[in-house]
Order: sequence, then C-alpha cells, then structure tokens
Amino acid sequence: MKKIVAINASPRTKWNTSSLVREAAKGAEAEGAEVRIFDLYSLGKFTGCISCFGCKLPGHQGKCVYKDALTPVLESIREADGLIIGTPNYLGDVSAAFRSLYERLVFQALTYKTEPRSYNTHLIPVLFIMTSNCAEEAYDRIGYTDMLEKYKGTLSGMVGPTKVMIAGNTLQVNNYDLYNWTMFDPEAKKARHDEVFPKELEKAFSLGAEMVSSPW
Ligand SMILES: Cc1cc2nc3c(=O)[nH]c(=O)nc-3n(C[C@H](O)[C@H](O)[C@H](O)COP(=O)(O)O)c2cc1C
Repeated sequence: MKKIVAINASPRTKWNTSSLVREAAKGAEAEGAEVRIFDLYSLGKFTGCISCFGCKLPGHQGKCVYKDALTPVLESIREADGLIIGTPNYLGDVSAAFRSLYERLVFQALTYKTEPRSYNTHLIPVLFIMTSNCAEEAYDRIGYTDMLEKYKGTLSGMVGPTKVMIAGNTLQVNNYDLYNWTMFDPEAKKARHDEVFPKELEKAFSLGAEMVSSPW
C-alpha cells in the first residue's frame, strides 16, 4: 500500500488550504493509499534549519538531526511514496511554517558536493498547493509565478517531481461586513467561493488520486 503524507501549512485547519489538502488526500485514499495528515500549526514547537550541519556528518547524511515537532513530519516524508503540501500565500511567499519545514526538508538532502547534489535517492511525487487572495491570472504580473517556479524547481530536485496547483481569489473570511476592506467585493468573493472553489476541490481530489495511480 502506498503511503502519502499530506501537510496543511495554514494556521486555519478548516479553510481554503486545508480543504484542498484534505481533498487531495481523499483522492489518494480513493486509490488505495494510506494517508497521514499533519496540520503544521497544530504541532508543538518547531523551527527552521538551525545551521548545526548535523545532516552533513557521517552517519546522518541526508537526515536532519535536530529534534522538535517537525521530526515526525520529516520521518514520515522520508518513508512516504508521495507528498501533498499546501500553503497560503503570505506576503507574496509561503507561510512561515511551510518555510521552516522546507528549510529542514531540503537542506538535509543537500550534499554540498558538486556530485551528487542530493543525498536523497528516494524521490517522490509532490503536489504543491498555494491559495491566495490574489487571482491566479495576476500571478505572472506580480511575480508569484517566478516565486512558485523557484519552490517547484528546488522541491523537484531535492524531494521529487513537483506539480503546482493554485487556488487564487479565495474567500478570506465569512463576514466581510465586520471589516472595512475596500479592496474586496464581498459578493464577488462569495460567488466565486460557491462556484469555483468546489471545482478546485475536485481538481485537488483528481491530483491526489493521480499521484497514487498514474505516472507523475
Ligand atoms: C499574514 C497574511 C498575509 C497574506 N499575504 C497575502 C499576499 O501577499 N498575497 C495574497 O494573494 N494573499 C495574501 N494573504 C491571503 C491568503 O493567502 C489567502 O486568504 C489564503 O487563501 C488563506 O488560506 P487559508 O484560508 O487556508 O487560511 C495573506 C493572508 C495573511 C493572513
């Protein structure tokens, strides 16, 4: 049975990112995979890379040696056959929790040698989901496409072949009337959430299923 790790890197465990991650997880399960879900913001304390270089010492090469709440997540990914990971766009980038995991996940695999570049010989399919206020159509113009390409390239090389799914123009709160946010049209946000978000959930499900059942 294939093992898939699904990670929600949004602090909200029932909103856009989490819903898409969980739907992709359901798709993987529908194809017979066993899925382990982590909500990063519900774990205990953790940090990004602390620059100890333990992962480069003989005996540990390729394994982060620092112990905190990310340790079981890193171990699960090491044993997995696929990774689903979703993050909200925070200030034009990934969330801080995503970034902490990303630093630990990627840096542990870097050999600092010209060849081979990576200690990781077990490359797995990766589905990288980003949600944002910004509509997908604006990604090129404001540099988000380039930002995502950078993550995609690094994840592909160090963790495994990566597909990116974007869900833009998300509903950020249930009641926009509470805030004086003149940037948004609450009616349009709600309409989009009702019409388009369900299709994005279906897409996430399909990608999760594909990760398990088809060549990636
Ligand atoms: C701290 C913070 C920073 C954000 N920065 C951006 C941003 O730079 N660009 C953007 O498009 N959306 C931004 N957003 C909006 C979120 O990316 C968007 O609402 C996302 O879908 C939230 O995911 P969630 O519903 O899973 O929590 C930001 C939200 C927060 C809370």
